[in-house]
Amino acid sequence: MPHTPSADAARARFATATTTHLSGPLTADVRLDLVDTATWEQHNQALWDDAGDRGPAFDLRRAMTEDEQARAMDLEAALTPTLSHRVLLYAGDQVIGAYWGMQENWQRYYMVYSVVARAWQGRGIYSALLRRVLAAATEAGFREIYSRHGADNNAVLVPKLKAGFKLAAMEVAPRFGVLVHLRYFPGEGMRQVAEHRIDGRHAAALRARGLPIG
Ligand SMILES: CC(C)(COP(=O)(O)OP(=O)(O)OC[C@H]1O[C@@H](n2cnc3c(N)ncnc32)[C@H](O)[C@@H]1OP(=O)(O)O)[C@@H](O)C(=O)NCCC(=O)NCCS
Repeated sequence: MPHTPSADAARARFATATTTHLSGPLTADVRLDLVDTATWEQHNQALWDDAGDRGPAFDLRRAMTEDEQARAMDLEAALTPTLSHRVLLYAGDQVIGAYWGMQENWQRYYMVYSVVARAWQGRGIYSALLRRVLAAATEAGFREIYSRHGADNNAVLVPKLKAGFKLAAMEVAPRFGVLVHLRYFPGEGMRQVAEHRIDGRHAAALRARGLPIG
């Protein structure tokens, strides 16, 4: 029987996966809390200022007229709210990290941003968070998980490549400069297709799935 798509089923699956994987204890010292956007933003700037020396992103409003900004804001207001995760990381009552991710289009989950306070870096906190995010997005049903990072930002590229992300593209972004795009495919078939595109692996398995591979 053909499947009848259901937004309610997607929302319910997303909510269950979110509570299961992105709340409660993360490590012995750190726990995850789901928060609203305003609370998340209250903490985020201080975390970013503390966490590293990535240099400022350009505020693109300075490059736009007031009218251009107003029309762009109207378009943003016309977007329906997407499924998203706003997470703060706590050690006791201290906020020591933040994470934001969201559905970007039909089948793609976008890991927008992560930060861990400098004093807590290098202890595997991001790697643990990444495993949880992958579990939440996978159980929600996304076909691919996507992110963009400064091309020299090894602190985030290394753990992501170790977790199975693949390099997918490069971009010169007006706001950030040179970025690389990463993708992770939760499903075995999609992972095989992606790896086949890289070095020809899995040809027989993909042929058996009916893909036209010579
Ligand atoms: C990116 C960031 C979140 C990583 O957090 P973290 O908790 O320190 O990461 P982890 O401790 O889990 O490190 C993961 C792995 O990356 C490696 N790594 C960390 N920094 C590295 C660096 N500069 N170069 C190479 N590898 C690095 C670690 O050795 C570790 O590998 P291991 O498990 O084999 O030891 C943190 O550095 C940060 O907040 N940076 C500033 C904000 C930022 O750039 N965020 C990403 C933009 S979206």
